[in-house]
Amino acid sequence: MQKYIADCGLTSRRRAEALIARGLVAVNGKIVSEPGVKVDPEVDQVAVEGKRLEFNPATAKITLLLHKPVGYVSTMSDPQNRPLVKDLYKNFKERLFPVGRLDINTSGLLLCTNDGALANQLMHPRYKFEKEYRITVNGKFAEKDLKLLRQGVELEDGFAKPLRAELIRSEKRRSLLTLVIAEGRNRQVRRMLRALDFQVAALARIRLAFLTLDGVKKGAWRRLRAAELERLRMLANPE
Ligand code: URA
Repeated sequence: MQKYIADCGLTSRRRAEALIARGLVAVNGKIVSEPGVKVDPEVDQVAVEGKRLEFNPATAKITLLLHKPVGYVSTMSDPQNRPLVKDLYKNFKERLFPVGRLDINTSGLLLCTNDGALANQLMHPRYKFEKEYRITVNGKFAEKDLKLLRQGVELEDGFAKPLRAELIRSEKRRSLLTLVIAEGRNRQVRRMLRALDFQVAALARIRLAFLTLDGVKKGAWRRLRAAELERLRMLANPE
């Protein structure tokens, strides 16, 4: 039952258990105060604090964490007929759109959702959700370049300063670094590196806020758990 309450989008499974324990959940008009009771959404009427829960697949909110491979575009259609990220989760009837964009040549973490309010919160610069990128650049990225990057660079749409930048490996032909930014301007990471005369050979988003790609292979996805959705909403609305 706690799973059903969570699936209806009311709260996390753990909080649903607390509601049950507090005697606030009724099944077919009777208070049920132990967790684990089986309910059939087609037959049973579940009410929380007197309000009946509705599980409507047409309006259910779904959010996926997708590991985007290189070569897929993150728009809902493409005039050039290139592969779309939505092809990677085509079994959903719901229209799940990517939250923001990753370039066709960028891989990594992309949320896809039909929850417009959540998407707006995640994309709004006010909320400053951290995005971490792993970047391979051509050539030797030296300590002095790192210092310049950390100071911030001037782009044509304004100054851009990373929250953090770390040099992982610096070799003559290739270097590897990580960069954390809170904004998401178009091609921002590539343009920041370009401003320092470096060309990006590979770019991957490896983290969004507390979400990582752990356990999600390239081209695969998983659904966000209710507790993760709640945590994202809390980050956007801490009060
Ligand atoms: N910055 C870029 O340059 N490209 C992306 O895909 C994401 C961030």
